[in-house]
Amino acid sequence: MTLRMRFTLLIGLLLLFGVGLTGTTIYLGERRVRLRERADSRQALMTAFAEYCRDALKTHDHLQAMNAAESLVRAAGVLSAYGTDEKGRVFAHNDVTRVGRPPPPLPASELVLNEPLSKDPRERAQSVIVFSRKNIERAEQEAIRLTGRRIAGATAVILIFGLIFSAALARSISRPIQRMARATQELAQNNLDHRIPVNRSDELGRLAGDFNHMAERLGELDKMKNDFVSMVTHELRSPLSAIETYASLIAEEWRNGDSADLVDHLTTIRNNATRLGRFVNNILDVAKIESKALDVRKENISVAQAFKDQLDLFYARAKEKNVTLSADHTVDDVTVFTDPDMLAQILTNLVGNALKFTPPGGQVRLSSKARVVRNHTAHVQLSVADTGPGIAAKDQERIFNRFEQVAEIRDKMKGQKGTGLGLAITKGLVEVQGGTIEVESELGRGSVFSVYLPEE
Ligand SMILES: Nc1ncnc2c1ncn2[C@@H]1O[C@H](COP(=O)(O)OP(=O)(O)OP(=O)(O)O)[C@@H](O)[C@H]1O
Ligand SMILES: [Mg+2]
Repeated sequence: MTLRMRFTLLIGLLLLFGVGLTGTTIYLGERRVRLRERADSRQALMTAFAEYCRDALKTHDHLQAMNAAESLVRAAGVLSAYGTDEKGRVFAHNDVTRVGRPPPPLPASELVLNEPLSKDPRERAQSVIVFSRKNIERAEQEAIRLTGRRIAGATAVILIFGLIFSAALARSISRPIQRMARATQELAQNNLDHRIPVNRSDELGRLAGDFNHMAERLGELDKMKNDFVSMVTHELRSPLSAIETYASLIAEEWRNGDSADLVDHLTTIRNNATRLGRFVNNILDVAKIESKALDVRKENISVAQAFKDQLDLFYARAKEKNVTLSADHTVDDVTVFTDPDMLAQILTNLVGNALKFTPPGGQVRLSSKARVVRNHTAHVQLSVADTGPGIAAKDQERIFNRFEQVAEIRDKMKGQKGTGLGLAITKGLVEVQGGTIEVESELGRGSVFSVYLPEE
């Protein structure tokens, strides 16, 4: 059975039960009221007739009481009505022939009402009305049947509207669920562009929005996976094939007794092996950061020393590229509480990028500032500024994601183009220590990458 059918049935049954219960309660209440009204009106007839009889006894004018008895039989459908005087003799009766005689015996099967005409209990003067039980029951049944019919009509109308409403409600709930089921099937068939229209603000609307968001994320992950596979393929294949080619070349030249270029070829092989090793390390670093398996061992590190290590490490490369690499001298007394290996890797990645992207004649400068307040706590700021090509505002956030590179910069680069993992790793290493990383840059004006690490 479909969800929609189930909803309709369930709501319909609930409605039937609710309306049935209410209808029955109203019917029983109405019935009681009707019966009480009829009894009251019989009592009122009795009181009025007794009044006529009292008047007749007082004034000795029996005619009015006779007329009243007659009209009771004619108009109110009673069997008989009469009054007896203090001696117990009939003085007024709907049947004139009964006047002056003792009252007729009371029929046991009919309903008899009587009312004494005098306050003295010894006197036998009383007024009597005999109602036909059959007539009473017929009239009561008629009244009750009318009430029942009215209530049943109202119940049926409510039920019909309720069923229409429940069907509409069931449809409004089941339709988005069906759409969601269809969208899930589309996703399962790898159609990651499929989206559900979001046109309501309730829980189902939010669920559709979340579903779309999930589909979007899946699409991004899918793209990332494809980029990753092609990047990994390229980054593994090209150094490996270079190593293979140059090894064969060495073997062939060696066999021919030609060893002139041996050192060059071996250097090429070593460079490609280094490139391969770096890529594998980067991938492993990313995996470690993602799985939060990094072991942070913090100690107090002198910023001046960390900067000096970087200057030493990149001295040759800066010289070769004709880029001035320098560090701020005012940092002597600044220390930072951090993991030394991570700090070294962070700075190496940033300085390496700055040197890689800054053209000859440019500058790369390291600087630091202590007690910079961020998020209400003191941080040490470490910056690497360059006079490179700069980064457009639209790219400034995404370059911290894995495998993201600025296409314009990448296209202009000669030699190894990198994999776009450096900044993602750097960001991971900074964040695992409770820090943040930011870039300030303008196209054509260079960039400043700043890392903020908590002082304690
Ligand atoms: N100092 C900089 N100046 C200009 N662009 C930069 C700078 N640093 C990074 N970028 C841009 O950000 C991209 C991502 O940098 P990232 O360090 O993550 O990757 P990569 O250097 O290209 O490769 P890898 O570091 O994996 O060898 C770079 O490709 C480049 O486009
Ligand atoms: Mg890099």
